[in-house]
Amino acid sequence: MPHKSSFVQDAHRAYDLKVEKSLAEHIIEPPYLLVEESPALEGTVSLAGAKNAVLVIMLSRILARGVSILYNVPASDDVYQMIHLLHELGARIQFDQEEHTMNIDTTDLDGYRVSLEIMKKMRASVLVMGPLLARFGKVEIALPGGDVIGDRPVDIHIKNFEKMGVTVEQNGDFLTAHVKHLQHRNLLLEYPSVGATENLLMLAVLTKGTTRIINAALEPEVFDLIIALRAMGARITVDVPATIVIEGVESLHPAEHTIMFDRMEAGSLLLAGAITGGYVNVPEAPAHTMGLFLMKLQEMGHTILIGKDGVGVKIKATKTPKAITVKTIPYPGYPTDLQAPLMAALAISQGISKIQETVYENRLSHARELVKMGAHIDTQHDTAIIRGVEQLYGAHVIAGDVRASCCLVLAGLVAKGKTVVSGIHHWKRGYDNLEHKLRALGASVVLVQ
Ligand code: EPU
Repeated sequence: MPHKSSFVQDAHRAYDLKVEKSLAEHIIEPPYLLVEESPALEGTVSLAGAKNAVLVIMLSRILARGVSILYNVPASDDVYQMIHLLHELGARIQFDQEEHTMNIDTTDLDGYRVSLEIMKKMRASVLVMGPLLARFGKVEIALPGGDVIGDRPVDIHIKNFEKMGVTVEQNGDFLTAHVKHLQHRNLLLEYPSVGATENLLMLAVLTKGTTRIINAALEPEVFDLIIALRAMGARITVDVPATIVIEGVESLHPAEHTIMFDRMEAGSLLLAGAITGGYVNVPEAPAHTMGLFLMKLQEMGHTILIGKDGVGVKIKATKTPKAITVKTIPYPGYPTDLQAPLMAALAISQGISKIQETVYENRLSHARELVKMGAHIDTQHDTAIIRGVEQLYGAHVIAGDVRASCCLVLAGLVAKGKTVVSGIHHWKRGYDNLEHKLRALGASVVLVQ
């Protein structure tokens, strides 16, 4: 009688054949990412500008009339979506996607309504509220609603806008807000929401007097927004405990800004090195913002070298990674956006790992897809228990959000056979040609359109 594990292997071989057959018969419709088992990744790779900094910084241009220039702008689908939004409001935009440079001219921007179609496509659109209220005293938007990773309410944004004197009316999916006299306040956030901090900050910069955002989100992307606003003439300081202090000014002026490098893309590339047992150098990685993530890679047994002044990371991966325990929490805790990619690496690490996701209520669905590839993962409530296996196997898997798409691609790099990742609009929303970068390091990843 065959050993039990050979049953499992046979089953996976059969699944692999099924993937091939489905592809051959065009049952799996493009677009998808086709990933094949790859050698240890090696080489040096450059980064794009940060997805979670660029969108809000594009919106912050509304706060001043004139032409602003942004550098290091990633050519991702979310950025194109934000261009649509700004066009709808009357801005003129030129984006050189090869040079990653964007000119935003807000001279004739006079709209204060964002259509349902645009709002529903991108949650970050809700960050238009602060700048439009500051510039026109009114805004009309549709609520973005929840998505696969959680309900994602905007109650903290709204409650604190109201404290500043904004009248907010909700009618079904639509939200109208207006303000006559903005009032500076001490705003104590019940949770350090990144979006609420950014929205309130953009209103407070043009609100007379001193506004304090207490228990503010301190994510590096919030600091990039602060730097970009200061260049426009805003007066912002950061105090303890987790307090952003804003002295309102009469007006702001257009300014240039270079978007910070993407720490999530950096982390994903380092994990690609880790999972394949490779050697990857990311010279632009903002290591000073990646502390806990890098510490966890070291705990797994990987060698991490950090560059001068906290910029640049090299990983020399161990061939025998160890299990670890991780809990996602706001910065400087372990980032939720690097939870899914890490899970792929833990799926083949020795021992039992534990991941607890506390930022979103439903951000473990990639575990189910990894299980299709042969991973042993039990999920209960907010926790995934991952029992490392020796081998993953190619399968047809579906990405439910940006970071899940990355997780599944990474898993595909070490899976026997072919892995087909569907749901890749998420991949294109969040990354600027990451598949090209992985290929340059030796990975077998193709975007089939
Ligand atoms: N929350 C509330 N009420 C609010 C606001 C937030 O309950 O009024 C909850 C959310 O539902 C969520 C948690 O608080 O469960 C965190 O939300 P937060 O507002 O901090 O996040 P966000 O601004 O909506 C940004 C990033 C996310 C990233 C989070 C956390 C952008 C465009 N998005 O979202 O990025 O996960 O901060 O760091 O900046 C991603 O890149 O894949 C992504 C989802």
